Amino acid sequence: MPRADWRGQRVLVSAGPTQEALDPVRFLSNRSSGKMGYAVAEAARDRGAEVVLVTGPTALPPPAGMAVVTVTTAQEMADALSQRFAWATVVVMAAAVADFRPTEPARQKIKKQGQSRLSLELEPAPDILAMLSAMRTSQLLIGFAAETEDLVPHAQAKLLAKGLDLIVANDVTRVGAGFGSDDNAAVVLSRTGPPREFGLMPKRRLADELLTAALELARA
Ligand code: PMT
Repeated sequence: MPRADWRGQRVLVSAGPTQEALDPVRFLSNRSSGKMGYAVAEAARDRGAEVVLVTGPTALPPPAGMAVVTVTTAQEMADALSQRFAWATVVVMAAAVADFRPTEPARQKIKKQGQSRLSLELEPAPDILAMLSAMRTSQLLIGFAAETEDLVPHAQAKLLAKGLDLIVANDVTRVGAGFGSDDNAAVVLSRTGPPREFGLMPKRRLADELLTAALELARA
């Protein structure tokens, strides 16, 4: 008998990378495949929630049983999420959003002729979670932290700085976990309770563990 413990929840999930144009043919991006965010969206759907998935460019098929909004840039992702934020009871930001973007993308393809070096000027991209946190009424806000060192302290700092209820800290240097893989391992941190460690497991199982932890927090 499938669990229906998320029935009545309206869940906004972000997934995948963003792409920030350098010129008409090139962009800055990252290694996110979208698997983690899609797993969260599917787990919430299967547990009875209404789900909207806002996704950057991925190779994954759009999941059934939910609205899927495709975006490319951090600004488009920020717009898509903020437009739907008032509807949501829970937001899960699994997307790997650009922290910086080119200040002014070149209008024409950047040429290499005559250049021995090329410097790019970048400006901060919108911090979507910080923005949503400032708009929040009663939504539960869940972030992810992709870290390459000092996993827990760095994730803890993001939990507080972005005003989150939960953060899923993943060590993206761990073999078989993080970007692109089918499995992940994480420490889930909250503002109040003790950290919870989840060993290497399929992203779908980790998504279910996260939803269970989030529900416990919402009911506490
Ligand atoms: O997609 P996969 O291949 O399955 O990989 C999964 C994953 C490694 C991408 C995922 O598990 C993960 O860690 N996602 C968050 C990646 C990230 O951007 O981490 P961060 O530590 O830079 O950001 C912290 C949080 O702020 C994240 O929830 C992020 O979505 C959010 N953020 C970041 C930048 C920004 N401009 N706005 C944001 O809201």
